[in-house]
Amino acid sequence: MLGPVILAASRSDKMRRFVSAAPGTKQVVARFIAGETVEQVVPVVKEAVARGLEVTLDVVGEDITTREQAAAARDAYLELIEHLAGLGLGTKAEMSVKLSMFGQSLEGGHELALANVRPVVEAAAAIGTTVTLDAEDHTTLDSMFAIHEELRKDFPQTGCVIQAYLFRTEGDARRLSEAGSRVRIVKGAYKEPASVAYQDKAEIDKAYVRILKILMEGDGYPMIGSHDPRLIAITQELARGAGRKLDDYEFQMLYGIRSDEHVRLAAEGHRMRVYTAYGTDWYGYFMRRLAEKPANLLFFLRSMITK
Ligand code: FDA
Repeated sequence: MLGPVILAASRSDKMRRFVSAAPGTKQVVARFIAGETVEQVVPVVKEAVARGLEVTLDVVGEDITTREQAAAARDAYLELIEHLAGLGLGTKAEMSVKLSMFGQSLEGGHELALANVRPVVEAAAAIGTTVTLDAEDHTTLDSMFAIHEELRKDFPQTGCVIQAYLFRTEGDARRLSEAGSRVRIVKGAYKEPASVAYQDKAEIDKAYVRILKILMEGDGYPMIGSHDPRLIAITQELARGAGRKLDDYEFQMLYGIRSDEHVRLAAEGHRMRVYTAYGTDWYGYFMRRLAEKPANLLFFLRSMITK
């Protein structure tokens, strides 16, 4: 019940100000956000790779309101790529981007987001790595998929995310499971109406498994974004059934969540990529993490009281 309330608060400026200024916030945020600057995140990347993990880096931010902010988002990713260039990690360090941060919701936003994300994808390809387009709320997805298709003409390795809670996603999964495509499947983290999305957790899990089957039996490269132990076991079973080798798919989890599991799966020979978010505009990202697990909210409230 708390999840939808927290997700509604994630869009409130008043709550943003309150949460950002609350005592104890920084300490709780640090569990999910790997640092504020690119200089702080680079050692985190190196350490993850040294432990047998891979990463996808997210410069936090979304819902920007000016073209200047969209350009700044592009530049932040370009700065990140400059830092990664010296590490020579190839696809062990890729990037995840939210098109809303690149101007998608502004006037002429579709073209603007494409124009801002293209140089990032180009720069990533130049250092031998890739970009994955995150999935945001359902109203943004037609534009996201069209941008994905456009980018893939020149950069076929560009990935995208699909969300199991949406009714449309089985169709998207079929369309996307062609040779050379990279698709991350997640449950979905936004507040969506019953007209477009399953509301019941069990229904979402069942849809996730149906989509997993489509991806595993297809010709693309599935990226399994989940911390759910049942879904991880089902993935392994389906991958075996589809004759996929361990490097024909990968698991992905969020920085700060089930970290032991990251290492355990990597030690079993799986590719495990940690979605590593950093930056100062962490509010929306942080609130979605609270909404996923109400116990996080209790921990957060307790940290405010004990400060
Ligand atoms: P579920 O929520 O059932 O959690 C399973 C278990 O994992 C929990 O019991 C708990 O132990 C642990 N857990 C999960 N979330 C936790 C949290 N916040 N804090 C502490 N423990 C937690 N969504 C989206 O809409 N668009 C996107 O682009 C992405 N991208 C993305 C990338 C990657 C790599 C991941 C892992 C997830 C996303 N998501 C996302 C978020 C996704 O939609 C979903 O909200 C979360 O992954 C939580 O769902 P689980 O599959 O982990 O299952």
